[in-house]
Amino acid sequence: MAKKGKSTKSGKLSEAQIAVHWQEEEYIHPSPEFIAQANMADRGIFERFSLDNFPECFKEFADLLTWEQYWQTTLDTSDAPCWKWFVGGKLNASFNCVDRHLPKYKNKAAIHFVPEPEEEALQAITYQELYVRVNEFAALLGDFAGLKKGDRVTLHMPMVPDLPVTMLACARLGIIHSEVFGGFSGQACADRIEDSGSHVLITMDAYHRGGKLIDHKVNADIAVEAAKKLGQKVDKVLVWQRYPGTNNTQSKYVKGRDFAVNDLLKDFAAKRVDPVPMLAEDPLFLMYTSGTTGKPKGCQHSTGGYLAYAAGTTKFVQDVHPEDVYWCMADIGWITGHTYIVYGPLALAASSVIYEGVPVYPDPGRPWRIAERLDVNIFHTAPTTVRMLRKAGPDEPAKYNYHFKHMTTVGEPIEPEVWRWYYDVVGKGEAAVVDTWWQTETGGFLCSTMPALDPMKPGSAGPAVPGIHPVIYDENGDEIAKGAGKAGNICIRNPWPGAFQTIWGDRERYVSTYYAKFCRNPESKDWRDWPYLTGDGAMQAEDGYYRILGRLDDVINVAGHRLGTKELESSALTVDEIAEAAVVPVADELKGRVPEVYVSLKPGVKDGGAAQAKVVKAIETTIGKIARPRNVYIVPDMPKTRSGKIMRRVLAAISNTLDIGDVMTLANPDIVEEIRVLVQGEEKLAIKKGPQDIERFGEEG
Ligand code: WTA
Repeated sequence: MAKKGKSTKSGKLSEAQIAVHWQEEEYIHPSPEFIAQANMADRGIFERFSLDNFPECFKEFADLLTWEQYWQTTLDTSDAPCWKWFVGGKLNASFNCVDRHLPKYKNKAAIHFVPEPEEEALQAITYQELYVRVNEFAALLGDFAGLKKGDRVTLHMPMVPDLPVTMLACARLGIIHSEVFGGFSGQACADRIEDSGSHVLITMDAYHRGGKLIDHKVNADIAVEAAKKLGQKVDKVLVWQRYPGTNNTQSKYVKGRDFAVNDLLKDFAAKRVDPVPMLAEDPLFLMYTSGTTGKPKGCQHSTGGYLAYAAGTTKFVQDVHPEDVYWCMADIGWITGHTYIVYGPLALAASSVIYEGVPVYPDPGRPWRIAERLDVNIFHTAPTTVRMLRKAGPDEPAKYNYHFKHMTTVGEPIEPEVWRWYYDVVGKGEAAVVDTWWQTETGGFLCSTMPALDPMKPGSAGPAVPGIHPVIYDENGDEIAKGAGKAGNICIRNPWPGAFQTIWGDRERYVSTYYAKFCRNPESKDWRDWPYLTGDGAMQAEDGYYRILGRLDDVINVAGHRLGTKELESSALTVDEIAEAAVVPVADELKGRVPEVYVSLKPGVKDGGAAQAKVVKAIETTIGKIARPRNVYIVPDMPKTRSGKIMRRVLAAISNTLDIGDVMTLANPDIVEEIRVLVQGEEKLAIKKGPQDIERFGEEG
């Protein structure tokens, strides 16, 4: 029996509770042509990866890699819940993604770079060319920047091939890279520089987005200054140039601190650097993600386990073969790009497409022109992009001559209607579609159909992938059976090699956030006592398919990007005029969810409009434009419990026009109607009831 879980009494209405309730959809089967060529068409894989064969089953993934030294212990649980995979094994990720392919594939494209300006030539970078660039830059990192194994380096780079070159050069030397999404602000970058203790920042002068050449180096100046205030000195800023030899930034190079990479590289021409053999357990990279408290968490991923899981899932779920042209239109600044643009595809000698810009630039036919031009046959994107492309150009795909054998959706729940457009129109009814559910923390997929083995079901992620064994717990820690029609906390029973190792520098937070809630015995060294808490709400249908409803915690998934409500609130509170702030998730037609901010003003503040604008600006500066709220409402007071806690649940219900529920226990119940009128207008709007058969979690008890 599981220990009784604590019920959360924070009074919030989570994403999962805002979930719309979709009806069960019919199955759609993959085509015989797809099955005939698939990397995994053998049902035996489920048996091979059953719990009876755990953990040895994961050798099948690890054997896709080239090991310098084989491991002795597949899974070491002695430091539970910090699991160690392939202990004693040695390998190098850069060698696995580059060098080992040279004998067979040196003249094959590793990367197809598609610049946003359509008149600019495409670049095919062969494995040989990638090898040369990675070696030269690794030499620079070692000899010029003085970086060595175990050092952390922060990258703040856009979608250009220099980014994977940088990552692989770090991996070659065992330097731990921490790439910050290019769209994040300089301040957000500084927080990550400080947390990771980076002395070197690698950036680019400029990049194209939405028809503009954006000056990016200016963010580096902000980041370095802000990091200094946080107590972290950056000694060197290495600046790649979007057009080598040309300066495209207003920012001045600070002497002795800022260096144009392209100038420095001249000294490293033709240099070769041996890949450093790393222990499987040595960290490969950090990827920061938002959590329930203020500070973003640095998820630490391992070399051996992560790479094995990336390669295994890319091969069997993404069905990537070396002869495929694979396009994942995510950003490398997120985990999807790390695993499924860079490490997974390159470990398998695939050709991976990197597109610099906005999907609908200059028009919504752009992605399909790229697909036609490169003859892309595997396509991977997020529901928010699918919704945008469907809205902007519903008939565009039919105008182009491309054929996808396989397509992926990732990052948020996809509405069955949107799924159908993706399948029928983008996939032309030919592609096997996988809806992949996973997280920054998990390194690779958790749930998805196996494309040649399972039928697709629109709106459902599918069963767990081989080797992953989920369980849904109610708030008391009791299992919810499949087909029960009830949602709960989806957890994973077992460790797996792709899982992050810890939160950088904060093991306690790692344990309390991901394992404490349903742990059966904190002293235990047995993995069976440590289910992994994903933080998502889910329900499992009779057929075993999972439907993910969204976050149960204080995280909002905006267009597939995770934002912490606390991060947004603290940034609103930096505005002088603001006394209190509360952020809630609101359903949005294109982005899935967006934040709305409720603020109350300090006494005596006259200009509410100015304060609103300042809140938006503060959020853009501290986090980035992706976090921009849909509305900032100024309220006379926040709805509060008698103990003074802000009742976000009430605000979220108002923002989503849901049933507000009982408010009589509040300290100030009258304020609720006042806020409702402010937000929804005088007329009483039709109240949508929350989904009846979804249990309501985390409400105020
Ligand atoms: C959500 C992105 C429904 C979920 C890879 C998870 C999804 C969070 C899906 C992780 C999906 C991801 N269906 N929801 N297929 N995939 N999510 O860390 O709430 O950026 O916890 O990783 O996105 O977001 P992250």
